[in-house]
Amino acid sequence: MSRPEVRILESAEAVCAAAADEFVRTAATACEARGRFRVALAGGTTPCRLHRLLGDAPFRDKVDWPAGHFFFGDERAVHADHADSNYAMARDTLFRELEIPEGHVHRMQAERCDLDRAAADYEEQIADEFEVRVDATPPAFDLILLGMGADGHTASLFPDTPALAERKRWVVGNPVRKLGASRMTFTFPLINAARHVVFTVTGRGKVEALRAVLDQTRPATDRPPAASVAPTSASALFLLDADAAAGLPADFP
Ligand code: 6PG
Repeated sequence: MSRPEVRILESAEAVCAAAADEFVRTAATACEARGRFRVALAGGTTPCRLHRLLGDAPFRDKVDWPAGHFFFGDERAVHADHADSNYAMARDTLFRELEIPEGHVHRMQAERCDLDRAAADYEEQIADEFEVRVDATPPAFDLILLGMGADGHTASLFPDTPALAERKRWVVGNPVRKLGASRMTFTFPLINAARHVVFTVTGRGKVEALRAVLDQTRPATDRPPAASVAPTSASALFLLDADAAAGLPADFP
Protein backbone atom coordinates (compact mmCIF):
# COMPACT_ATOMS: atom_id res chain seq x y z
CA MET A 1 0.00 0.00 0.00
CA SER A 2 1.69 3.26 -1.16
CA ARG A 3 2.36 6.01 1.37
CA PRO A 4 0.37 9.17 0.72
CA GLU A 5 2.04 12.36 -0.43
CA VAL A 6 1.30 15.27 1.93
CA ARG A 7 1.57 18.96 1.11
CA ILE A 8 0.86 21.53 3.83
CA LEU A 9 -0.22 24.96 2.53
CA GLU A 10 -0.73 28.20 4.40
CA SER A 11 -4.49 28.55 3.87
CA ALA A 12 -7.66 26.92 2.59
CA GLU A 13 -7.44 29.17 -0.46
CA ALA A 14 -3.93 27.88 -1.18
CA VAL A 15 -5.19 24.30 -0.80
CA CYS A 16 -7.88 24.94 -3.41
CA ALA A 17 -5.39 26.60 -5.77
CA ALA A 18 -3.09 23.59 -5.47
CA ALA A 19 -6.05 21.28 -6.13
CA ALA A 20 -6.97 23.36 -9.17
CA ASP A 21 -3.41 22.96 -10.44
CA GLU A 22 -3.72 19.18 -10.01
CA PHE A 23 -7.06 19.23 -11.85
CA VAL A 24 -5.56 21.16 -14.78
CA ARG A 25 -2.51 18.91 -14.92
CA THR A 26 -4.41 15.61 -14.79
CA ALA A 27 -7.02 16.78 -17.30
CA ALA A 28 -4.32 17.85 -19.77
CA THR A 29 -2.44 14.55 -19.39
CA ALA A 30 -5.65 12.56 -19.90
CA CYS A 31 -6.72 14.56 -22.95
CA GLU A 32 -3.31 14.10 -24.51
CA ALA A 33 -3.38 10.35 -23.89
CA ARG A 34 -7.08 9.54 -24.38
CA GLY A 35 -8.77 12.58 -25.84
CA ARG A 36 -10.96 13.03 -22.76
CA PHE A 37 -10.76 13.17 -18.99
CA ARG A 38 -12.95 11.51 -16.40
CA VAL A 39 -13.14 13.00 -12.94
CA ALA A 40 -15.14 12.19 -9.82
CA LEU A 41 -16.03 15.23 -7.76
CA ALA A 42 -16.21 15.38 -3.96
CA GLY A 43 -19.10 16.66 -1.91
CA GLY A 44 -19.18 18.87 1.15
CA THR A 45 -18.18 22.52 1.52
CA THR A 46 -14.46 22.52 0.64
CA PRO A 47 -15.00 21.69 -3.07
CA CYS A 48 -17.18 24.80 -3.53
CA ARG A 49 -14.10 27.00 -3.38
CA LEU A 50 -12.24 24.70 -5.76
CA HIS A 51 -15.11 24.69 -8.26
CA ARG A 52 -15.34 28.48 -8.28
CA LEU A 53 -11.57 28.72 -8.84
CA LEU A 54 -11.78 26.30 -11.77
CA GLY A 55 -14.61 28.31 -13.32
CA ASP A 56 -12.53 31.47 -13.28
CA ALA A 57 -9.35 32.68 -14.96
CA PRO A 58 -6.61 31.48 -15.04
CA PHE A 59 -7.69 27.89 -14.47
CA ARG A 60 -10.80 28.10 -16.66
CA ASP A 61 -8.67 28.76 -19.72
CA LYS A 62 -6.33 25.84 -19.09
CA VAL A 63 -8.84 22.98 -19.34
CA ASP A 64 -10.49 21.49 -22.42
CA TRP A 65 -13.89 21.44 -20.67
CA PRO A 66 -15.87 19.82 -23.53
CA ALA A 67 -13.55 16.80 -23.13
CA GLY A 68 -14.51 16.41 -19.46
CA HIS A 69 -16.84 13.71 -18.10
CA PHE A 70 -17.99 14.35 -14.54
CA PHE A 71 -19.01 11.77 -11.96
CA PHE A 72 -19.51 11.96 -8.20
CA GLY A 73 -17.64 10.02 -5.54
CA ASP A 74 -20.74 10.03 -3.36
CA GLU A 75 -24.17 11.53 -2.95
CA ARG A 76 -26.70 12.06 -0.25
CA ALA A 77 -30.16 10.44 -0.45
CA VAL A 78 -31.75 13.66 -1.69
CA HIS A 79 -33.21 14.97 -4.95
CA ALA A 80 -31.13 16.88 -7.46
CA ASP A 81 -32.42 20.25 -6.28
CA HIS A 82 -32.03 19.64 -2.55
CA ALA A 83 -29.69 21.99 -0.67
CA ASP A 84 -27.65 18.98 0.53
CA SER A 85 -27.15 17.53 -2.95
CA ASN A 86 -23.52 17.24 -4.06
CA TYR A 87 -24.78 17.35 -7.64
CA ALA A 88 -26.66 20.63 -7.02
CA MET A 89 -23.54 22.15 -5.44
CA ALA A 90 -21.42 21.19 -8.47
CA ARG A 91 -24.12 22.35 -10.90
CA ASP A 92 -24.31 25.76 -9.24
CA THR A 93 -20.55 26.25 -8.69
CA LEU A 94 -19.06 24.61 -11.78
CA PHE A 95 -21.27 23.06 -14.48
CA ARG A 96 -23.46 26.10 -15.16
CA GLU A 97 -20.52 28.50 -15.27
CA LEU A 98 -18.64 26.29 -17.72
CA GLU A 99 -21.73 25.21 -19.68
CA ILE A 100 -20.85 21.53 -19.25
CA PRO A 101 -23.19 19.48 -21.49
CA GLU A 102 -25.75 17.48 -19.48
CA GLY A 103 -24.62 14.27 -21.18
CA HIS A 104 -21.18 14.78 -19.65
CA VAL A 105 -22.50 15.02 -16.09
CA HIS A 106 -23.44 11.76 -14.36
CA ARG A 107 -25.59 12.37 -11.29
CA MET A 108 -25.97 9.64 -8.66
CA GLN A 109 -29.71 9.05 -8.18
CA ALA A 110 -29.24 8.45 -4.46
CA GLU A 111 -32.81 9.55 -3.72
CA ARG A 112 -34.25 6.37 -5.27
CA CYS A 113 -36.00 3.94 -2.91
CA ASP A 114 -34.04 1.02 -4.27
CA LEU A 115 -30.59 2.42 -3.54
CA ASP A 116 -28.81 -0.77 -4.49
CA ARG A 117 -30.49 -0.76 -7.92
CA ALA A 118 -29.57 2.91 -8.29
CA ALA A 119 -25.94 2.11 -7.41
CA ALA A 120 -25.92 -0.73 -9.96
CA ASP A 121 -27.29 1.65 -12.57
CA TYR A 122 -24.52 4.09 -11.75
CA GLU A 123 -21.95 1.33 -12.18
CA GLU A 124 -23.45 0.75 -15.64
CA GLN A 125 -22.98 4.45 -16.45
CA ILE A 126 -19.34 4.21 -15.41
CA ALA A 127 -18.87 1.01 -17.42
CA ASP A 128 -20.42 2.67 -20.48
CA GLU A 129 -18.15 5.69 -20.17
CA PHE A 130 -15.04 3.54 -19.90
CA GLU A 131 -16.32 0.95 -22.40
CA VAL A 132 -15.76 -1.93 -19.99
CA ARG A 133 -18.00 -4.55 -18.40
CA VAL A 134 -19.33 -3.99 -14.90
CA ASP A 135 -17.89 -7.33 -13.78
CA ALA A 136 -14.42 -6.30 -15.00
CA THR A 137 -11.71 -4.80 -12.84
CA PRO A 138 -12.56 -1.23 -11.81
CA PRO A 139 -11.76 1.40 -14.47
CA ALA A 140 -9.22 4.13 -13.79
CA PHE A 141 -10.63 7.59 -13.30
CA ASP A 142 -8.10 10.22 -14.29
CA LEU A 143 -8.79 12.07 -11.07
CA ILE A 144 -10.87 11.39 -7.98
CA LEU A 145 -11.27 14.39 -5.70
CA LEU A 146 -11.99 13.57 -2.06
CA GLY A 147 -12.66 15.39 1.17
CA MET A 148 -12.38 14.00 4.67
CA GLY A 149 -14.79 14.37 7.54
CA ALA A 150 -13.91 15.02 11.20
CA ASP A 151 -14.43 11.28 11.78
CA GLY A 152 -12.02 10.36 9.01
CA HIS A 153 -14.68 9.34 6.50
CA THR A 154 -14.15 10.01 2.83
CA ALA A 155 -16.71 9.96 0.04
CA SER A 156 -19.50 8.29 2.03
CA LEU A 157 -17.25 5.60 3.44
CA PHE A 158 -18.02 6.30 7.09
CA PRO A 159 -16.55 4.43 10.07
CA ASP A 160 -18.43 1.24 11.03
CA THR A 161 -20.47 1.08 7.83
CA PRO A 162 -20.88 -1.95 5.53
CA ALA A 163 -19.39 -0.25 2.44
CA LEU A 164 -15.93 -0.30 4.03
CA ALA A 165 -15.74 -4.05 3.47
CA GLU A 166 -16.83 -4.00 -0.18
CA ARG A 167 -14.10 -5.46 -2.38
CA LYS A 168 -15.93 -6.12 -5.67
CA ARG A 169 -18.63 -3.56 -6.35
CA TRP A 170 -17.59 -0.15 -7.63
CA VAL A 171 -20.56 1.80 -6.20
CA VAL A 172 -22.91 0.83 -3.38
CA GLY A 173 -25.64 2.16 -1.19
CA ASN A 174 -24.35 2.62 2.35
CA PRO A 175 -26.56 2.97 5.45
CA VAL A 176 -24.89 5.47 7.81
CA ARG A 177 -26.40 4.89 11.27
CA LYS A 178 -24.83 8.02 12.77
CA LEU A 179 -26.56 10.15 10.13
CA GLY A 180 -29.82 8.23 10.28
CA ALA A 181 -29.61 8.16 6.49
CA SER A 182 -28.20 6.19 3.58
CA ARG A 183 -25.73 7.44 1.02
CA MET A 184 -24.43 6.25 -2.34
CA THR A 185 -20.66 5.98 -2.54
CA PHE A 186 -17.67 4.85 -4.55
CA THR A 187 -15.99 1.87 -2.90
CA PHE A 188 -12.29 1.46 -2.13
CA PRO A 189 -11.72 -0.80 -5.18
CA LEU A 190 -12.94 1.94 -7.52
CA ILE A 191 -11.18 4.77 -5.68
CA ASN A 192 -7.89 2.86 -5.52
CA ALA A 193 -8.02 2.11 -9.26
CA ALA A 194 -7.75 5.84 -10.04
CA ARG A 195 -4.71 7.36 -11.72
CA HIS A 196 -4.76 10.25 -9.29
CA VAL A 197 -6.55 10.82 -5.98
CA VAL A 198 -6.39 14.26 -4.39
CA PHE A 199 -7.71 15.03 -0.90
CA THR A 200 -8.44 18.60 0.14
CA VAL A 201 -8.60 18.84 3.94
CA THR A 202 -8.84 22.16 5.74
CA GLY A 203 -9.71 23.54 9.17
CA ARG A 204 -8.92 22.69 12.78
CA GLY A 205 -11.94 20.38 12.94
CA LYS A 206 -9.96 17.78 10.97
CA VAL A 207 -6.81 17.78 13.16
CA GLU A 208 -7.54 14.62 15.14
CA ALA A 209 -8.87 12.61 12.21
CA LEU A 210 -5.94 13.61 10.04
CA ARG A 211 -3.44 12.64 12.73
CA ALA A 212 -5.07 9.19 12.90
CA VAL A 213 -5.44 8.75 9.14
CA LEU A 214 -1.79 9.63 8.44
CA ASP A 215 -0.36 7.61 11.35
CA GLN A 216 1.78 5.17 9.38
CA THR A 217 2.74 3.26 12.54
CA ARG A 218 -0.66 1.51 12.51
CA PRO A 219 -2.19 -0.65 9.77
CA ALA A 220 -4.70 1.21 7.59
CA THR A 221 -7.46 -1.10 8.78
CA ASP A 222 -6.91 0.23 12.33
CA ARG A 223 -7.22 3.82 11.17
CA PRO A 224 -10.23 5.87 9.99
CA PRO A 225 -11.59 5.07 6.49
CA ALA A 226 -9.61 7.72 4.57
CA ALA A 227 -6.44 5.77 5.50
CA SER A 228 -7.56 2.97 3.18
CA VAL A 229 -7.33 5.19 0.12
CA ALA A 230 -4.10 3.96 -1.48
CA PRO A 231 -4.26 3.98 -5.28
CA THR A 232 -2.27 1.17 -6.87
CA SER A 233 -0.85 3.41 -9.61
CA ALA A 234 0.15 6.52 -7.63
CA SER A 235 0.21 7.91 -4.12
CA ALA A 236 -2.82 9.71 -2.85
CA LEU A 237 -2.08 13.39 -2.49
CA PHE A 238 -3.27 15.12 0.69
CA LEU A 239 -3.50 18.89 0.31
CA LEU A 240 -3.80 20.30 3.84
CA ASP A 241 -3.97 23.77 5.25
CA ALA A 242 -1.89 24.63 8.33
CA ASP A 243 -4.96 24.44 10.58
CA ALA A 244 -5.82 20.87 9.59
CA ALA A 245 -2.15 19.82 9.75
CA ALA A 246 -1.60 21.31 13.23
CA GLY A 247 -1.68 17.88 14.89
CA LEU A 248 0.92 16.25 12.67
CA PRO A 249 4.44 15.63 14.03
CA ALA A 250 6.80 18.59 13.41
CA ASP A 251 9.00 16.42 11.18
CA PHE A 252 6.05 15.07 9.21
CA PRO A 253 6.04 13.64 6.59
C1 6PG B 1 -20.02 14.48 1.42
C2 6PG B 1 -18.60 14.32 1.04
C3 6PG B 1 -17.77 14.05 2.25
C4 6PG B 1 -16.96 15.32 2.44
C5 6PG B 1 -16.38 15.39 3.83
C6 6PG B 1 -15.67 16.71 4.04
O1 6PG B 1 -20.89 14.15 0.62
O2 6PG B 1 -20.23 15.03 2.51
O3 6PG B 1 -18.31 13.61 -0.01
O4 6PG B 1 -16.93 12.95 2.17
O5 6PG B 1 -15.92 15.35 1.48
O6 6PG B 1 -17.46 15.27 4.74
O7 6PG B 1 -16.61 17.73 3.88
P1 6PG B 1 -16.17 19.29 4.05
O8 6PG B 1 -15.30 19.59 2.89
O9 6PG B 1 -17.48 20.01 4.04
O10 6PG B 1 -15.43 19.38 5.36
